[in-house]
Amino acid sequence: MKALVLAGGSGTRLRPITHTSAKQLLPVANKPVLFYGLEAIRDAGITDVGVVVGDAARAIQSAVGDGRAFGLRVTYIRQAAPLGLAHAVLTAREFLGDDDFVMYLGDNFIVGGITALVEEFRSSRPDAHIMLTTVPDPRQFGVAELDHAGQVVGLEEKPEHPKSDLALVGVYLFTAAVHEAIAGLAPSQRGELEITEAIQWLIQHGRKVTSTVISGYWKDTGNVADMLEVNRMVLESAEPRMAGTADPASELIGRVVIETGAQISGSRIVGPAIIGAGTVVTGSYVGPFTSVAPGCIIADSEIEYSIVLSGASIRGVRRIEASLIGHDVEVTPAPRVRGAHRLILGDHSKVQISS
Ligand code: DAU
Repeated sequence: MKALVLAGGSGTRLRPITHTSAKQLLPVANKPVLFYGLEAIRDAGITDVGVVVGDAARAIQSAVGDGRAFGLRVTYIRQAAPLGLAHAVLTAREFLGDDDFVMYLGDNFIVGGITALVEEFRSSRPDAHIMLTTVPDPRQFGVAELDHAGQVVGLEEKPEHPKSDLALVGVYLFTAAVHEAIAGLAPSQRGELEITEAIQWLIQHGRKVTSTVISGYWKDTGNVADMLEVNRMVLESAEPRMAGTADPASELIGRVVIETGAQISGSRIVGPAIIGAGTVVTGSYVGPFTSVAPGCIIADSEIEYSIVLSGASIRGVRRIEASLIGHDVEVTPAPRVRGAHRLILGDHSKVQISS
């Protein structure tokens, strides 16, 4: 059995961060979202992994390499444009051959991994097996309709009037039958080859499609609110660790991870929180559910429930909350300018100012 991990796409809902970074590489507790998925695949006993990449191919390849660090053998598959999940499968046809495979969306986060799901598929071998979960607003997802016996009878991609509140989770298991279904697809209204339609085709052609409804934690990290929420959840079970330094005037409370060479002085860090390697925190408060990546500076500032990417510096700012701060960003107060904000913001930035 193989795995196909989808790490292409455009990440429009995470702009401007995704202008320069792949959304699958955004860190959760200082580790890229994509790595959690690769580890789940390895833990399920699969080693042969195809990674579909788009414009961010270089960044993804340099982060994942040949997969050896994960115990995997990774093959990169270049998708010329993000023309849909089924198009990604089509592009990977040669890599997949006629093998069974698990398709894993690289921006999805599933607690508890996929081992049980893969084992169930291996023993019962339906043509497709999908994972479903109840969500408050199904219109943003693929939505499944089940009959009284729990059998999947229909699937719709992002319907305006959903027939249930059961969303498709971004992990799918297939036999080679899916290729026949994809061969007959035409682009949807949004111009994509939809995997939901391929599964619908299998149902209509009498093929066996089964589902598991999961009650555990799942998030599509496609927007900032979901990223922060997944970060909160992962930090909650982080093991406290001190690999840097903290001076006597500092206080570390609760689950706090201080990575190699990070320096804390005159500061209060209230966990769960992680401070990345080489980051310097002085005279500041870092509150719960905050991940600060390596190589950052936090000085005379307060921040909580936020993610700060590598190389960012925050000086003299009280207080930052529920924020995602990009690589090498500088946040400072405006000197000598009363009652005015001075902003240099990239395209699609979002700024909320208190005055
Ligand atoms: O997260 C679950 C949802 O994922 C499902 O409920 C939907 O049925 C499914 O269509 C998908 O919806 P999204 O709109 O969230 O898909 P997104 O465009 O974000 O793409 C998911 C992943 O696949 C992401 O890592 C980017 C990658 N991708 C996407 C497309 C369209 C590719 O590699 N190639 C592509 O052509």
